[in-house]
Amino acid sequence: MEYRILEEAVASVRKVTDFRPEVAVILGSGLGGYANKISSMIPIDYDEIAHFPTSTVPGHEGYLIFGQVGTIKVVLMQGRVHYYEGYTPDQVVMPIRVMNMLGAKKLIITNAAGGINWGFVPGDLMLIRDHICMVPSPLIGKNMDELGPRFPDMSDIYSAKLRDLVKLQARKKDIDLKEGVYIQVSGPQYETPSEIRMYRSWGADAVGMSTAVEAIAARHMGMRTIGLSLITNLACGMTTRELSHAEVEQTGRESAARFETLLTATIKAIGGSER
Ligand code: HPA
Repeated sequence: MEYRILEEAVASVRKVTDFRPEVAVILGSGLGGYANKISSMIPIDYDEIAHFPTSTVPGHEGYLIFGQVGTIKVVLMQGRVHYYEGYTPDQVVMPIRVMNMLGAKKLIITNAAGGINWGFVPGDLMLIRDHICMVPSPLIGKNMDELGPRFPDMSDIYSAKLRDLVKLQARKKDIDLKEGVYIQVSGPQYETPSEIRMYRSWGADAVGMSTAVEAIAARHMGMRTIGLSLITNLACGMTTRELSHAEVEQTGRESAARFETLLTATIKAIGGSER
């Protein structure tokens, strides 16, 4: 990807609004409704933004939505694309780069994930402490020096300082928040029982098909990231039942209200902080 592509995307947004968000948020499965809860909404259809990747699933809309949560200026991604749809990791992270260029210095990534840790139950919320990325890096290709260095450091990819703020807010709001390592796999098939046993032995607590590539691209640009997973199911082989997308969606619906409360607390906690 070339920097010019990003500049053209930014220019399409700037034709509509000069809004400068502080915090960017990716709304994962089940959180799409959150966009209606924010104030002073300015939605822009992905189709109206030059070069923006759009979902290959028919009827799956995508909007970039600008607005406020309390006093914090945010930009929300309602709808995201995945590696398994056939996009390259570089295309998957393009919106993150655009949101950064629009002003956002912090990123909150949300997702649905399968629980690998035996201590988790469906409906649990997990703060991502670190990740293991099993898909190719979004930074492969010529480095865009305008964005960041060729070989960026990843030791604090999910900012420890921001995580402390989120944990404090969760305690204050009496929301049970687990913390753990997320592993991004390509999908779209769910894992095998052997793969899950291997990932557990590597130290993974939850598995999903997004997030790590976006976090890598954000860190490359110097953004500070928070990752929040909703554990929608126990991973393959941990129960006798077959996994289904319907089960994932069902837990998503049941837990949406709690997930939204945590998200609002997270936005407010990190929005005003220095880093
Ligand atoms: N595996 C991978 N991705 C997922 C899962 C899972 O079990 N649940 C939700 N997203």
